[in-house]
Amino acid sequence: MNKPKNYKLFIDGAWVDSVSGETFASDNPARPKQILGTFQKGCNEDVDKAVEAAESVFPKWNGTPAPERGLILLRAAHLLLENKEQLASEMTMEMGKVVQESRGDVQEAVDVTEYMAGEGRRLFGFTTPSELRKKLCLTIRMPIGVCGLITPWNFPLAIPAWKIMTALICGNTVLFKPSSDTPLCATRLVETLDKAGLPKGVLNMVTGSGDDVGMAVVKHENVGAVSFTGHRDTGATILREAGLKRVGLEMGGKNGIVVMDDADLNLALEGVIWGGYGTTGQRCTAASRVIVQEKIKNKFERMLVNRIRKLKLGNGLKPETDVGPLINKAAQEKSAKYVEIGKNEGAKLLIGGKIPAMDGFFFEPTLFTNCTVDMRIAQEEIFGPVVSLISVRNLDEAIDAINSVEYGLSSAIYTKDIGKACEAITRIKAGLTYVNSSTIGSEVHLPFGGVKHTGIGTREGGIEGINEFSETKTVYIDYSGKLQKAQIDIG
Ligand code: UN1
Repeated sequence: MNKPKNYKLFIDGAWVDSVSGETFASDNPARPKQILGTFQKGCNEDVDKAVEAAESVFPKWNGTPAPERGLILLRAAHLLLENKEQLASEMTMEMGKVVQESRGDVQEAVDVTEYMAGEGRRLFGFTTPSELRKKLCLTIRMPIGVCGLITPWNFPLAIPAWKIMTALICGNTVLFKPSSDTPLCATRLVETLDKAGLPKGVLNMVTGSGDDVGMAVVKHENVGAVSFTGHRDTGATILREAGLKRVGLEMGGKNGIVVMDDADLNLALEGVIWGGYGTTGQRCTAASRVIVQEKIKNKFERMLVNRIRKLKLGNGLKPETDVGPLINKAAQEKSAKYVEIGKNEGAKLLIGGKIPAMDGFFFEPTLFTNCTVDMRIAQEEIFGPVVSLISVRNLDEAIDAINSVEYGLSSAIYTKDIGKACEAITRIKAGLTYVNSSTIGSEVHLPFGGVKHTGIGTREGGIEGINEFSETKTVYIDYSGKLQKAQIDIG
């Protein structure tokens, strides 16, 4: 095998080594011996340099008209689209998801880049009448400054693109800290933006550990905003350590699909399989709980088991593969641990539950039944292909079950009854509710985010995504030529 390529940090428009002089490797979770590259283990000094670069170019970038910023994004969108196949196969090698899902990930990056390019010609504020004569009232958007973006590995292009493109179009400059499981995909995204003509210093990337690089970004006094997607505990630490910065957090879920007894069960079956085992269960939006009405429980269990048995585990680059590996050994061990927890809690294992005898971090698609809402397997985010089935008597119990967890990201209901669907839409505590569709598959021009411990009000995507990376300024223009006092000189 050839010696793996050594990739660099991107600071002030140049690819450079870390001051630490240390590197780490990125491997292929389907073939862990295959090393895709070595990457810089960034440190405090690298973060300082990156922030300095981002700060010094900020006035120039902020002074560039937003439509002109948008044109650079448009070029980046075209480049991503042109390289879709190459990017998708590299992504499958680096994080394992099946290649058609990797294509979807690249497409999601294209979509958000294109959308945010268009935002360059909107970035709307609003106008409203004044209570006084000859006075205009309006709002405009202002950038925040240097934004620290800390991203996960499960959508190695799409999630960085959600954050980077939105921050850039608003006129911010960026320090990007990608997950150490997918630094190659991150590098490709930065290369793309560089090629698209982004001025030097506007986007900087420092790879390395969360404890070193991530924390240095979060604590840096000249970073104005931090946006993070990842584990709840990390999010809570960031919130604690960030001081008086703007913080955006998206922290996982324990999403449920409700299947009512009037539902089209074949449709619901496909929704559960896609939501539960797509991306090997490694989505914040994954359907890790299925809540079925008692009457259809046995039938739906049989349908699920028959369908799960047919799922083919393997290398995501092979067209016959349905489910790829987990991201790393720790993830594999976590799924195995939760299977033991589930068994000890008295849940019934219907299928799966084991680490198969395969090279790579695979785990069998797993289904538990007879789960109760309070079991740990029905409460905690496993981030693997482990689904818990809970049976309920009616819609009220189903909604209580859905709402019984600390998270509130995505949710779904399968029913033909519009009244039941509307009850679910209005009573489920989650940022997203799908009707007759799975819990995954958000589109970039709609808001994405969750309630309860999933977030702190952050919404990414579309017009609401702009709010995360811009400040609203209120402007009053008085052209009366005299001092007019609000609240006093009225009537
Ligand atoms: C995530 O897993 O953090 O709706 C994001 C979906 C994708 C995004 C998932 N568009 O499943």
